[in-house]
Amino acid sequence: MLEGKTVVLGIAGSIAAYKAADLASKLTQAGVGVEVVMTEAATRFITPLTLSSITGRPVVTGMWQPASEFSIEHVSLAEAADVVVIAPATADIIAKLASGIADDILTCTVLATRAPVIIAPAMNDNMYRNPVTQENLSRLKARGFVIIEPGYGRLASGKTGTGRLAEVDRIIDAIRQVLQRKSDLAGRQIVVTAGGTREPIDPVRYIGNRSSGKMGYALAGVARERGAKVTLVTAASLPSPAEVEVIAVETALQMKRAVTRAVKGADALIMAAAVADYRPEEVARAKIKKSSRLNLELVATPDILAEIEGGFIKVGFAAESEDVIANARKKLEAKGLDLIVANDITQKDSGFGADSNKVTIIDKNGKIEDLPLMTKREVADRVLDRVAGILGKR
Ligand SMILES: Cc1cc2nc3c(=O)[nH]c(=O)nc-3n(C[C@H](O)[C@H](O)[C@H](O)COP(=O)(O)O)c2cc1C
Repeated sequence: MLEGKTVVLGIAGSIAAYKAADLASKLTQAGVGVEVVMTEAATRFITPLTLSSITGRPVVTGMWQPASEFSIEHVSLAEAADVVVIAPATADIIAKLASGIADDILTCTVLATRAPVIIAPAMNDNMYRNPVTQENLSRLKARGFVIIEPGYGRLASGKTGTGRLAEVDRIIDAIRQVLQRKSDLAGRQIVVTAGGTREPIDPVRYIGNRSSGKMGYALAGVARERGAKVTLVTAASLPSPAEVEVIAVETALQMKRAVTRAVKGADALIMAAAVADYRPEEVARAKIKKSSRLNLELVATPDILAEIEGGFIKVGFAAESEDVIANARKKLEAKGLDLIVANDITQKDSGFGADSNKVTIIDKNGKIEDLPLMTKREVADRVLDRVAGILGKR
């Protein structure tokens, strides 16, 4: 798995930088071509000579050093990488990557790469727990970076806390997992919907719901990473996943039109969006003046999943607050779905707005797969495993 691969190992200015030498050594012994990129701060903790002696390769330490075998260093390194690993990653590097700053060779390389990026943070526990660091890590996670949580133990400050660089073997495991990531959806076309539709009442007000769009965005991002051509029809405005065609819509009717166009030639339609069941029949042209009572006449919106036909796989989501499985099964049958992903929105850390989800996948043969609480990206992977399985049998 590792042999013959190219790992760009980024080292930032943490006291744990010396552990990167062990990581570089183990990777090199496993037959990996290790290209080390160090920040200026990292060179204060461990010498480039140590790393180049271990890897047998020149170490890149600056943007302005004369080009060696790589022409424009950050671009060629970025392209050569099968995976980029930053270990240790400082709070500073994490913040720069989260906001797209590219003022040194390591951040430029990460910005220019299309390879998966693994981040192994190491820092003082207060720095790690600081909301800004946590927010930055969440942003990177949402963009598909793999974060290897630091361990708990004695820190360089002498305190005990969470912030120790993950064990080298755990980092190598993560590299292996990322390299193993399937490209089982290559050549497939998948349409994903996300977010909650907004049904206008007047130019100011709308009827909406609590869907954040995170599940749909996770599905779109992971499907793309697994090789599919992905169209995301979204009523949410989250940062777009890389290399995904994004079609922004607002209402259920707009979503239906966009999905109908997008599914032509598609292999699967995954409807993670929370589409409003009703919309105001009339939309007032001017803002409705406040009064003691307002009656709105609502009409049903189209049931997109049930109405759209084609030879593609149909996957629905059922956000339920009671009789979750029974209600999901009813939906699966009524809409002619291949799979339904049911979640109990009353559960803690699950459903709307959360970064995690606890779901049950039910297929049309009645098979029930009850999954534990996991991140939405992990849920996306499990749903796509099932989609890939069905596609493989066709
Ligand atoms: C002795 C010492 C140890 C440090 N250890 C860490 C660390 O473990 N994690 C961290 O995020 N920053 C640490 N810092 C702060 C970083 O070195 C500093 O933020 C630097 O600007 C990081 O630069 P870089 O992200 O470009 O490598 C340490 C600083 C010193 C002086």
